[in-house]
Amino acid sequence: MDKGFWDSQIEYLRSTRKQMWNDDYFEFLVKVVWKLDRPIKIIDFGCGYGFLGLKLLPLLPRGSSYTGLDTGEALLQEARGIYEQLPYRSDFLLEDITAFTPKPQYDLAICQSVLRHLPDAVGVLKRMIDAVVPGGLVICIEPNRAMEEAGFYSNGTKEEAIDRMVTRKQRWDAEQSAGGRDYQQGIKVPVYMQELGLEKVEVRINDFVELLDPSSRSGGENRPDRLELLFKERGIAPEGKVENIFAVNARCHMISYGYKSDF
Ligand SMILES: C[S@@+](CC[C@H](N)C(=O)[O-])C[C@H]1O[C@@H](n2cnc3c(N)ncnc32)[C@H](O)[C@@H]1O
Repeated sequence: MDKGFWDSQIEYLRSTRKQMWNDDYFEFLVKVVWKLDRPIKIIDFGCGYGFLGLKLLPLLPRGSSYTGLDTGEALLQEARGIYEQLPYRSDFLLEDITAFTPKPQYDLAICQSVLRHLPDAVGVLKRMIDAVVPGGLVICIEPNRAMEEAGFYSNGTKEEAIDRMVTRKQRWDAEQSAGGRDYQQGIKVPVYMQELGLEKVEVRINDFVELLDPSSRSGGENRPDRLELLFKERGIAPEGKVENIFAVNARCHMISYGYKSDF
């Protein structure tokens, strides 16, 4: 994928991030699972427009700071514009995370939906570990594409997820054999974390499930534009008008995390 690609996807990122987390679950992770109860320094690998900082910083004690790294100049510009209106300490740096040499100065290194796009996820994970202090926390929020596919159901197509997975696997395998990304990246991250020496490695699953409901009776959203995109991403044609179709989209992002040894 060319480096400028994500710069043209700011609107896509904004609209999809809205449907990525249940706020109560995110807060539960921050406060109960990770116990982030003192001011910390965060570094976000492949930060986009700084979405994760916008979720994390309001939940953290004052004095916490957020550094975002990305190769997208327009995304970094967008992030700076957003954060200059906010009371948080932040910094946005133009860095290639596959070549960056970090110093161990952060308490938390995090990434979301980034390793899935990169052929050398392990190289980036090593850099994330290098960026944190002893005892520091490393968190990767990444999908496993087969799980993501299995999590999509709609009454607007007879094709089942399992059939799509068989067809798509051929494409995924070809991409990986040509030096591209690994479609199972998300589910492999905890193994890489353990192999790279992180301690107390654990995994959660993002519990957010998107409901697209033309009637809105279920409390789901009536968003034909979103549904069209979900069909397009899967390469399937809906039967009938998207305006009448109900869909369930459970992305099942793996939230893998572990701690750097403190001696
Ligand atoms: C799907 S977006 C996710 C952005 C953000 N983490 C979020 O969840 O909103 C992937 C991001 O990774 C960035 N990225 C991809 N390759 C990169 C690289 N080699 N160095 C730095 N950033 C990279 C892209 O520019 C893009 O912002």
